[in-house]
Amino acid sequence: MVRYNERLHLPADEVIKAIDQRTRWIALANPNNPTGTLLPEGDLQTILRAAPRALVLVDEAYFDFSGETILPWIRNYRNLVVSRTFSKAFGLAGLRIGFLFANAELASLMRRVHAVFAVNAVAMAGAVEAIRHEDYIRRYARAVRKNRALLCKWLDSMSISYAPSAANFVLVRLGRQAAEVARRLRQENNILVRDWDYDPHLKGYLRVTIGTAGQMRHLIQALGRVQHLIETHGGSRAWRDLLAYSPTEYFA
Ligand SMILES: Cc1ncc(COP(=O)(O)O)c(C=O)c1O
Repeated sequence: MVRYNERLHLPADEVIKAIDQRTRWIALANPNNPTGTLLPEGDLQTILRAAPRALVLVDEAYFDFSGETILPWIRNYRNLVVSRTFSKAFGLAGLRIGFLFANAELASLMRRVHAVFAVNAVAMAGAVEAIRHEDYIRRYARAVRKNRALLCKWLDSMSISYAPSAANFVLVRLGRQAAEVARRLRQENNILVRDWDYDPHLKGYLRVTIGTAGQMRHLIQALGRVQHLIETHGGSRAWRDLLAYSPTEYFA
């Protein structure tokens, strides 16, 4: 397994170094969860070329919110599989259904080995119906992108650090009191965020899911009320704290 580094970036050179004769498949989430970040196309190409004998699965679960896809590449890379899900923009996680895209040869090989009853008839009917309402999904995804920009603009104005997100959430760095901020949001404002502070690699981070404009305003107001608990990269004290806290100065 290759970890994202402290800059919340997947080091493509380490992925390539890790590839050897025994490598059967490589899974890449694009956009990634929980960072929301996209891999540079150049890195994806390098990895695909470095592992011609391995299956490279590029998971585009958050495609509707990123608008970026490498789906057409299945024509050029025989080892590429692209996956999508109905669990995110379509809101149908309970149906347990998604897509796999690959060239015809790879698709037929996969068809030979996949479980016969992997998807049930109700899920299939639901998915087909959902696709008929693609306009609705597009409108919803557009609203999420707009509200994501709204939140990021506010975070910028407050000098609060976050990872540049192409998904329907933003990983925000609140610093040492992140867990306390999460608790106050939950108990005092009825707002649930995903607390990543427990993870040694994401100490100080909360992942905020993007909601409606009204929900984002509610969140912004609630964050404003606990501003004194948030470490920013603006003021000099906060700046010192950030450098002490993050030896890599990623968000400097
Ligand atoms: C990157 C990524 N891919 C896939 C999934 C889940 O998809 P599914 O519900 O189809 O298993 C998630 C859910 O959190 C995710 O973050």
